[in-house]
Amino acid sequence: MPRRAAPLVPLSWDHRNTLLLCTTIERSLAGDSRFGDGDVDGLRGRVLTHGDRHLLPHFGDEEMLLVPMLRRLGDEGAAFAARMIAEHVDIGAVLARVRLAPRDRVEVALRSFAALTRAHVRFEERELYPFVETHVDREALAAAALRMVGRRTDDRRADRRELQAVRGELFDDAPLELDPATP
Ligand SMILES: [Fe+2]
Repeated sequence: MPRRAAPLVPLSWDHRNTLLLCTTIERSLAGDSRFGDGDVDGLRGRVLTHGDRHLLPHFGDEEMLLVPMLRRLGDEGAAFAARMIAEHVDIGAVLARVRLAPRDRVEVALRSFAALTRAHVRFEERELYPFVETHVDREALAAAALRMVGRRTDDRRADRRELQAVRGELFDDAPLELDPATP
């Protein structure tokens, strides 16, 4: 994983947590007991809780933070915004399948969630965020990210380190270490 610009660090932390959930789903269903017993009801509960409390609000954070800036960057920026939003909608639909699937279809829905979400995070970390880092004015991005952390704090969703991270106070040059297994 590349190092992230300070304003994007809280969102990258969200990605790390979501990738860990994807890994847990995949390895637990594959029979790796270090990641659980493969119980689909338990995994379904974890995914839905993560979706409601973290992932869907994260999508909202990203769209509020990035879409207006991307749309000011011409066709390429608008295309990035459109792809991000479309993938958020697709993952929301898979979450609905996880929620509503009859028991014999839950495993398929969980696998779809893990695969789609992992690919989406890969797109954002490898393509979208680098584009933002190189094309969006850093001061404007930082100001918007501070507002985002304020909203997350009001909603009791912010890790206490987020404000420091967005201000660039948390790390000097330390890389953000995400799951090294990320493809
Ligand atoms: Fe994201």
